[in-house]
Parts: sequence; C-alpha cells; structure tokens
Amino acid sequence: MSALPNELQAAAIDATTKSALDEIAKASNLEELKEVKLRHVGDKSAIALANRQIGTLSAEHKAEVGARIGKARQIINQAFDEREKVLDRIALNQALETERVDITEALFSPLAGARHPISMISERVADVFTAMGWEIKEGPELEAEWLNFDALNIPDNHPARSMQDTFYIGDENSHLVLRTHTSPVQARVMLSSTPPIYVGVPGRVFRTDELDATHTPVFHQVEALAVDKGLTMADLRGTLDHFAQALFGPHAKTRLRPSYFPFTEPSAELDLWFEDAKGGARWIEWGGCGMVNPAVLLACGIDPEEYSGFAFGVGLERTAMFRHTITDMRDIVEGDIRFSRQFGVDPL
Ligand code: FA5
Ligand code: MG
Repeated sequence: MSALPNELQAAAIDATTKSALDEIAKASNLEELKEVKLRHVGDKSAIALANRQIGTLSAEHKAEVGARIGKARQIINQAFDEREKVLDRIALNQALETERVDITEALFSPLAGARHPISMISERVADVFTAMGWEIKEGPELEAEWLNFDALNIPDNHPARSMQDTFYIGDENSHLVLRTHTSPVQARVMLSSTPPIYVGVPGRVFRTDELDATHTPVFHQVEALAVDKGLTMADLRGTLDHFAQALFGPHAKTRLRPSYFPFTEPSAELDLWFEDAKGGARWIEWGGCGMVNPAVLLACGIDPEEYSGFAFGVGLERTAMFRHTITDMRDIVEGDIRFSRQFGVDPL
C-alpha cells in the first residue's frame, strides 16, 4: 500500500479543521466571517486542495480520505452557519439600536407664518358690518380724479384738495389718481344703486405723507355709507358707538368734534379714547364722519328731498394700533415676521 501524503493524513486534516473553527469563532462580524469562509472552504483552501488530490489516490485510500475530508467540510460548514446566525442577530440588534427613533425627542419644525394684523383687522371690520346687515363693497385703488374729488364736492382748485396730498398717475391730463381715501366708493355705490344703501368699504389708500409714528403714505381705511329715508345724526352716533364697541369692547369711548369735509354737512372728526401700554390715556383722531352733503346726493342721482345719509371713514392702521396698543405705525408697515407673529393671531 502506497504512503499517504502528509497533508491528507488525519492529523493534517484535523489541524486544518481546528484552525478553521478557531477563526470562525473569532470572526466578530459578517464581513470577517466571509473572509474566513473564503480562506477555509474557497477554491484555494487547504481542504479544497486536499479534495482535489483524492482522484490520484489508490482505491483503499480514496474511501478513507474522502470520508475524512467530507466529515471535515461538514463540521466547518456547520460552524459557519451557526456563527453566521449569531453575527446576523448581533448586526440586527446594532441596527435597531443605532437607528432607533426617539419619539419623545423635541423636533425643530419650520417657523409658522402669521397673517398680517391689517388683513385681520380688515376682515374683523367687515364682519362687524355684515353682522349689522350691511353689505361689503370694494373699489379700485387707481381711481378717476372725478370720483376721488369732484363727485365728493371737491372741485378743481378747491382748497380742500390740498387737505389730501395726492399721487397723480401719468401727466395731469390722465385725470387718474391713486385714491386718497375710500370715499370715492361712496359715489360709485350711490351712482350704481338706489336707496336704501348700507355699505362698508375696506381698502388701501395713498397719500404723499411722510412715514412717521402715526402716518404712512400707503395705508388702509374703512368707509361706511348709509342712505335711507329719515336718517339723522343720531343714527350716525349710534352706529359709531356700536362699531367702536364691537372692535374695542364695551368700554370704548368715542367723541365727535365739529370739523369740515366737503362731502358731509355737518361734519365731525371722530376721536377714540386711547389707553397706551404705559398707562397714559388721551383722545386720538380715528377718522372723519358726517351727514352726506345733499350736493353729493344730487351729483350721484339721489333726491336729497327724499333721502338723507350718513358716512364715516376711519384709518385701519390706527384701528390696529388701538386694538393692540401698538405705539409706532412704522412697525405695521415694515413687514417684520416677528411683528406679524405677535399680533397676527387675533386675541378675541
Ligand atoms: C378722510 O379721508 C375722509 N374721507 C373721512 C370721511 C369719510 C369723512 C366719510 C366724512 C365722511 P382724513 O383725511 O381725516 O379723512 O382721514 C381719515 C383717517 O384716515 C384719519 O383719521 C386716520 O385714521 C387715517 N389716516 C389719514 N392719513 C393717514 C396716514 N398718512 N397714515 C395712516 N392713517 C392715516
Ligand atoms: Mg383727519
């Protein structure tokens, strides 16, 4: 019987098997285990080389060595499978740990915006009119000079035109202006409908005023116009009180001071009692009002013998300042999101 080469003897195969089992046990992750596997059962491994020699052996050695190598491969492969299962579970646990979602963690959500306080006050004012059963109307910001002035009894060269410093559009002959108040919508409504008329008109207006703590060149007004049979100054007074209390609460105080507007007769300045954040209090001009001038009713096709009317117009920036105790109008127009976030959510 020919001698068996050393590397095929039981001791050599056992040693190979043992070193494979040692390395399998030491592999600490699936990556390492894969390398160990390549080394110990891959094409160039000692076991594979030994296996390839079986064909060259004599018949009696073939059976013996074949069985030995087969057994060794089985042991090694089984060890691989078991180690793989263990490492798999370790890898899964690690992934669960590192990818864990902490549902109690505080999140940074994107900053939510807020509606501008002027938008909110416009809507609230419109709601007050609607609740009284009045209609809400809008008019154009670019207005015919005639409707902004002439129809309201402020003809060319009338000194009252300089009461409101006007942005003219194009050359003087265009007769187009950026409306200086919401009052031209009074004329539009009276020209296009018949009494009884009860309308509220919020909108943006423009004047060549300097920006300061109480003025801005672009601001908002809300106009009120009522035309019906038998309306008097008492109806105006009652409506103003209701309007002020709906906006500022039951303790709101207003007063009327005699004044002059060409489109109302008599006319009054409307003041509101304003308590500021520092505990001071004083009367502040809120708007203008009066009984619709019969000349305006006539110009707009309404018979002043049959109908009378009252009107008022107030500034919405001032309204927002009173409501939120804002002391500087520039804060309203500058558009800082922190300002909107502070006042853009209506407290009432
Ligand atoms: C008028 O504009 C008249 N059309 C009001 C009116 C309507 C009278 C109906 C009679 C009948 P006056 O120019 O005073 O009036 O402006 C009214 C209000 O608008 C002011 O009291 C103030 O609250 C606001 N206002 C006026 N100018 C500015 C400005 N530059 N910036 C912010 N608010 C202003
Ligand atoms: Mg005024």
